[in-house]
Formats: sequence, C-alpha cells, structure tokens
Amino acid sequence: MAAKKIDGKTVAAELRAKVAAAAQQWTQRHGKAPGLAVVLVGNDPASEVYVRNKVRQSEECGISSYEYKRDASCSEQELLALIASLNANDAVHGILVQLPLPKHINTAVILESILPEKDVDGFHPVNVGRLSSGMEGLVPCTPYGAMALIQSVHPKLDGLNAVVVGRSNIVGKPMAQLLLARNCTVTIAHSRTRDLPEVVRQADILVAAVGQSEFIRGDWIKPGACVIDVGINRVSAADGSTRLLGDVAFDEASNVAGAITPVPGGVGPMTIACLLRNTLVAATQSRGETLPAI
Ligand code: GUN
Repeated sequence: MAAKKIDGKTVAAELRAKVAAAAQQWTQRHGKAPGLAVVLVGNDPASEVYVRNKVRQSEECGISSYEYKRDASCSEQELLALIASLNANDAVHGILVQLPLPKHINTAVILESILPEKDVDGFHPVNVGRLSSGMEGLVPCTPYGAMALIQSVHPKLDGLNAVVVGRSNIVGKPMAQLLLARNCTVTIAHSRTRDLPEVVRQADILVAAVGQSEFIRGDWIKPGACVIDVGINRVSAADGSTRLLGDVAFDEASNVAGAITPVPGGVGPMTIACLLRNTLVAATQSRGETLPAI
C-alpha cells in the first residue's frame, strides 16, 4: 500500500495562522510588531531565495522584517559590528544570519555573537546546550518543523527506533536531541557509518539529512516506517530543466513506508513557519510574558 503523504504545506499554513494571530495580539499589547532581522552576506542564489521567502512570510504574519545585505567581501569585524547593533536594537527580537557565510568569516564566532535570547535559529552554544540539557530555549527551525510533522503521524514516540542520517549542527544533531527528548531510541548515522542500509532498516522513524539526491533507497526502509526527508537537492535534467529532489528515492520509499514527506512540500515549508514561531517566542520572552501554546 502506498505511504501516507505528510503534507508540510498544510501543517505549515496552520502554524503560520497561529503565529499571525499571536503576533497580532502581541502588537496590540505593545503598540509595535515583533521584529526579525535577516542578514545575508554575499549572493548565493539559494540563500537569496530563502531570505526573500523569510522576509515575505514574516510580513504576511504581522512580524516586521529588517533585511541587511552585505557584499561577499564584508569582513568579520563589519559583520560583528552589525550584529552588535542588532543585539542592542529593541525593535529587533530575532536575528538570523543566513548560512553558509563566505569562507573568510568564522561562522562559529558570528553565531556566538548573537544574543542567545535573539538567536531564532537556535545555533548559539547556549541554546544548543539548553536543548541537550532538556531546558527551554530556542530550537533550530528545520528539526523543530520535522518534529511537528513526525508528531502529526505519531503523537507518542516512546521506545520507537529513530535513525537520523546526517550529523550537521543545523539539522542532524538537534534532530537527534528532539527525538531523544520524546523517548525515542536514537541513532545518528553519517558518511562513515558501516552498513548504512542495515542501520536505516532499523528505523521506525527515519530522518534523512544527507544532502545527496535520492541517496536513501526504498529497500533500506523498514515497512511502515515514518520517513522525513530534509533534503532539497536541485537536479538538472537532460533537457536543461531543473527539479527538486529529496535525499530519499520517493517513489521507491512510498511503496514501503507508512508515511513520508514529499520534496518539495514536506519539511521545507515548516522551516520558515518555525522561524516565525521562534521570533514570536523571542518577542514574548523579551517582555517576560508566556507564549500561548503554539
Ligand atoms: N541555511 C540553510 N538552512 C539554514 C537555517 O535554518 N538557518 C540559517 N541561518 N541558514 C541556513
């Protein structure tokens, strides 16, 4: 039987609607909208698209966005000075520096310069530590969104085997922490993992964040598994057209899995919705208030 397709577009739209309602209430209480600063260095085409979408969707949700574009030649010192000014700016509740940064800039130094309470990406070591300690904090957007999709299928995850393929700071590691916090038995697999297909076959919950199109094949999937595909790979066809493919061979996997996210339309739309949620969380906490559950 074909797997249930997990509709990220719908789940993301529901989350954005809740964020918009809460943002409107926040604005009524404080006379000014929550604010998100988005910093883009250089002209990577994919990053430009992501940033444009982040700015547009913020505005649609009633969150003011402030965009800062800098040339690829921008120095680390200049970027640190910009972040210091955003840290000090009361109209800015969330700061996002789009990654990757040019090679001459030390990403860790930049991420650590963002105030943890404005770190809506959840990449600051304080927020990383909070997540791994099971404390409240700002959680990275893509794993948070992936988790929401998993829970739309499996409200209770206790004791399930979860395999995360990929160990990045942006997705793999925080994803594993979130699954562990939900009482899954978690394996992080990566490029050096021995007999990867056999490891993947143990997964009741599989999260693929490898960055290689259709890397995970259908016969690696445990029958009935929930498959979350974080990959967004732009692939050129012979006729010059391009299309987006995930890290999982979708058609093959659909014949085996119980539920699966498509690419596009799965995890992708959740990332920005979760960024907007995090901005609202940051704005709410900046006033010592508690966010209604969204
Ligand atoms: N580049 C790719 N994904 C992300 C993300 O979630 N946040 C930031 N800041 N940059 C990214």
